[in-house]
Amino acid sequence: MTGFWVVTGASKGIGRALVNELLDRDFNVIATSRESQELDALRKIDHVTVIPADLTLRSDVESLCSSILDLGKPIRGMIHNAGRISPIDFMHQISIDEWSENIELNLISVQHMTQLLWPRLQEAKRSRIVTISSGASIRALHSWSAYCVSKAGLDMWAKAVAVEGQLDGISAISIAPGIVDTAMQETIRDAPEEKFPLRHTFQNYFDSGDLSSPQEVAQKLIDLIINHTMEQTGMRFDIRDL
Ligand SMILES: NC(=O)c1ccc[n+]([C@@H]2O[C@H](COP(=O)([O-])OP(=O)(O)OC[C@H]3O[C@@H](n4cnc5c(N)ncnc54)[C@H](OP(=O)(O)O)[C@@H]3O)[C@@H](O)[C@H]2O)c1
Repeated sequence: MTGFWVVTGASKGIGRALVNELLDRDFNVIATSRESQELDALRKIDHVTVIPADLTLRSDVESLCSSILDLGKPIRGMIHNAGRISPIDFMHQISIDEWSENIELNLISVQHMTQLLWPRLQEAKRSRIVTISSGASIRALHSWSAYCVSKAGLDMWAKAVAVEGQLDGISAISIAPGIVDTAMQETIRDAPEEKFPLRHTFQNYFDSGDLSSPQEVAQKLIDLIINHTMEQTGMRFDIRDL
C-alpha cells in the first residue's frame, strides 16, 4: 500500500465512491462520518480504518484527530468531502443555530481537522488537501445562504492553505463535482417549494437523467485528486471543465 488518505463523509455518496477509487490505487483510507450501517460496512474492507465522528461537534473532531495521530502514519492526502445543504430557508427566518451548524460542518471542521493533522501532512513531505466545492460557491441561490457562504469560504480556505502549505510541500485544490445523484440531492428535491423556488428545476434535472452517479464523478476526479503538484495548488476546478 502506498500511504494514507483521510476521507470525510465516507459513508455514502461521493465520499464513498472516492474511497473505492483510492483503494483501487493501493492507498490506505481513514474513513469518517457519523455512525451508521453504511459506515459500518466500511469496517469489513481491508485497508480501511473507520473512525466515527460528528463533525459539527468540536470534541468529536478532536477525538477523531487524536485517533488518527495515534496511528503514527504520515498522511498523503485529505478529502474534505462531508457536507450538508440544510437549512434551506429564507435568511430572515432561518434558525441561527441551524445556520451556524452548517458552517461548522462545511467549513470550520475542515480548518479544525487540518490544523490538528498538519504535523502528519508535513511528515509525508508531499501531501494533498482537496475540498469538495459547489457551483453554489460562486452563485447565490435562494434559501441556500448557509450552504453558499460555507462553500465560498471553503474555496478561499483552500487558497489560504495553498499559500501556507508551500513551505511544507502541501498542495490544496477545490473541486466542484457537478450535480450528483446522492442523498443531498434528495434533500434538495424534498424542500418545500414555498421555501425553495428552484425546487422544480432540481426535480427536472433528476427527471431528465441529468445527474451523474457518484461512481462516475469519483472515476473522473481521482487522478486530479491524487496527483500532487504544486503547480495546481490554490486552483478551483469544475468537473464540467475537465
Ligand atoms: N450531490 C451534489 O449534487 C453535490 C453538488 C455539489 C457539491 N456537493 C458536495 O459533495 C460533498 C458530498 O456530498 P454528497 O452529495 O455525496 O452527499 P451525501 O450523500 O449526503 O453525503 C454527505 C456525507 O457527509 C457526511 N456528513 C453529513 N453530516 C455530517 C456530520 N455532522 N458529521 C460527519 N459527517 C457528516 C454524511 O455522513 P453521515 O450522514 O452518514 O454522517 C455523508 O457521508 C458535499 O460537500 C457536498 O456539498 C454535492
